[in-house]
Amino acid sequence: MGIIWDRIQRCVEDIRKVTDFQPEAALVLGSGLGGFAARIQPEAQVSYGEIEGFPVSTVPGHEGRFLFGYVDGRPVAVMQGRVHYYEGYSMEDVVLPIRVLGALGAKELLLTNAAGGVNEALSPGDLMLLTGQITSFVPSPLIGPNENQLGPRFPDMTEVYSQTLRNRAKTAAEGLGAPLKEGVYLQTTGPSYETPEEIRMFRLLGADAVGMSTACEAMAARHMGLKVCGISCITNMVAGISSVPLTHQEVQKAADQAADRFQKLVWEYLRAQ
Ligand code: HPA
Repeated sequence: MGIIWDRIQRCVEDIRKVTDFQPEAALVLGSGLGGFAARIQPEAQVSYGEIEGFPVSTVPGHEGRFLFGYVDGRPVAVMQGRVHYYEGYSMEDVVLPIRVLGALGAKELLLTNAAGGVNEALSPGDLMLLTGQITSFVPSPLIGPNENQLGPRFPDMTEVYSQTLRNRAKTAAEGLGAPLKEGVYLQTTGPSYETPEEIRMFRLLGADAVGMSTACEAMAARHMGLKVCGISCITNMVAGISSVPLTHQEVQKAADQAADRFQKLVWEYLRAQ
């Protein structure tokens, strides 16, 4: 048995002490989307602190718990709060919750986040469906001995973001009459925001949005064979486009302002199977 596999099983055991809920889909709530939890018909919840060895977020505004419940009758596991690489956790810790969701039985995963707009066609408040990602600026969460129970040594990453799930998100947005942009997400380690020079480089490389999460989670989920969808809330234009210095408060405020639209889209997406 692998070391990571055993660790995942111990987390699952701690959750199973509380609930035998079987999620079909899993959802990670990014900045500003935490309120989505209130829309779910709750069945059970487990604080990350109740799970032995589980990473707990140090960032204000990131609550830490799994919420299990129903979206229009569909069983969903929700991660309210995630940890980031910049907090000092290893990549193995950062993606542990995603692997636990896979081990609980989730077959598909929706990742949400707040991101900075690199492409000048984006504006603060836009919702952007992820069509692809660039992970080359963070360490791979798959480094280390491969554990075959999780997935293959050299997993294919041609279609990280499932075309089927992307279509579902687009249909949900059309149904709501809500605009949904599309683009490529690039993950940095953070915690500093980017320099204008880095942003010029990221744009040349094909990035439309930049953030400090998600891509490593998507990679770990694909390694396990989960289907993945990703949606960013563009909270700000990045350094070099925006003339005002960027603050976490501004990012949080913009995410809060978009929260209602974002929540409606996620709800429609989850109930359309
Ligand atoms: N850069 C990186 N991460 C972010 C940003 C940004 O501009 N906005 C929200 N998350």
